[in-house]
Amino acid sequence: MWILILIINVAGFLNIAEGIGPSGNCTLLPKGERSFPQNFSFGVSTSAYQIEGSWNADGKGPSIWDEFCHNHPDNILDRTNGDIAANSYRRFDLDLEALRDLKVNHYRFSISWTRIYPSGDISSKNQKGIDYYNNVINQLIANGIQPMVTMFHYDLPIELQKLGGLTNELFIDQFVTYADELFKNFGDRVKTWITFNEPVRFCKPGYGTGRDPPQIKASGIGDYLCIANILKSHAAAYHLYRSKYFDEQHGKVGISLDTSYFFSKSNDNELVYRSLQYNLGILAHPIYSKSGGFPEVMVKEIERNSLQEGRLKSRLPSLEGKWKDLIRGSGDFLALNHYTSKYVERSPQPLGDNPSMQRDYDTIETVDENWLQAHSYWLNCVPEGMEMLLNFIRDEYNNIEVIITENGWSDSGEIEDNNRIVYLKSYIQAVLNAINDGCNVTAYSVWSFIDNFEWIQGYTDKFGLYSVNMISPERQRSPKKSARFYRQIIETRKIPNV
Ligand code: NOJ
Repeated sequence: MWILILIINVAGFLNIAEGIGPSGNCTLLPKGERSFPQNFSFGVSTSAYQIEGSWNADGKGPSIWDEFCHNHPDNILDRTNGDIAANSYRRFDLDLEALRDLKVNHYRFSISWTRIYPSGDISSKNQKGIDYYNNVINQLIANGIQPMVTMFHYDLPIELQKLGGLTNELFIDQFVTYADELFKNFGDRVKTWITFNEPVRFCKPGYGTGRDPPQIKASGIGDYLCIANILKSHAAAYHLYRSKYFDEQHGKVGISLDTSYFFSKSNDNELVYRSLQYNLGILAHPIYSKSGGFPEVMVKEIERNSLQEGRLKSRLPSLEGKWKDLIRGSGDFLALNHYTSKYVERSPQPLGDNPSMQRDYDTIETVDENWLQAHSYWLNCVPEGMEMLLNFIRDEYNNIEVIITENGWSDSGEIEDNNRIVYLKSYIQAVLNAINDGCNVTAYSVWSFIDNFEWIQGYTDKFGLYSVNMISPERQRSPKKSARFYRQIIETRKIPNV
């Protein structure tokens, strides 16, 4: 009996709580306390390329997304780009007005690397870029809004890609130098730093399938290498902050990781656990687990697949030795981007011979057709997943502080955005329930503050609480119904009955 418990424990899937399954109706009943703690922080989220526009203003250099959209417009659903976007670079005054109107506690935005270093390298330092973010940060603070800054949200300097980008270990030094610049210039006022946004969403299409820039097709190899280099760069920046800046600045550093939650119709908890490891654990385990390194299940399975392919070693880079120790513990909080859930099943037969992350994962994901569907094909409303995921993180990563850096709903831009309200209501309830379950969640951010450029979907999927008049050069912002709803939550710290 004890041996059996031990085996199950080693397998780890005991951290999959027996809990709520998806009801399918996009609502969640409250349990416990009805109010959020007073110091809980509510905010909204954006990223530089998606909102700033002014793609070559004031010395800014090109990023891989500038190049991709300009040279391959066919790859963007509506053939648009981020050249002007919501023009936040010129009209931050409009953003500030809306942020004040919304009464947010924090604003999460990202810094464009090529505004600070147009070529990616320190030798090209651009004071005008630094001035722009100084102004943004100062105005936020003057209005009682805490800045939460992402250092890298997909917009890699093109010149660094020419050196191999995220597949060259040189990237680590370049990133740390850039991070040093940000800590030095802004760290007296910015107290919450996020090194990278959604590494898997960047590495897999960027260096695996080649769908997104920089369009490197090296499935099952380039994507894992990119992830390993992100882990190393993150850890190096984290330790730089601790050794050089923390004593004076007292801020914290984390990384934004994304995952769906997974349900199994056959109560296969081991499979749910494995799916969470492949999607979240691939970055969270090396940083936040006690033992560090990639999840054991991935190490074993990817090595097995690699040997079967005739290789001499695993396609998954090794994190043993110095790097494993540097990465383990290199996060003061886990920043979570979570939107939706899937059902998972084991795939009946292996997916072909070609190496890929998909083949290593080897799992079928489906959704229930009754789940409320957003405009984005991948997004359904399954609030139970948010509560289950937060419980999983509590148990798996020693109740690390969680800052939810993204959660939101897409539609086609209606001002009476009732489905967004239904979604936000249920997901915010899930967060409150998780807090009542003892999860250490301290902040929540809606993606997104304003409608913006949704990568290869162009401007077709709208996530904003505010719509942006994309026809007028003024790019006026107007609150949708959901902005009013969210403001009420922020003001009352309670979820209204609507
Ligand atoms: C993930 C990304 O961080 C963000 O850039 C994107 O727009 C949203 N989630 C919605 O897909």
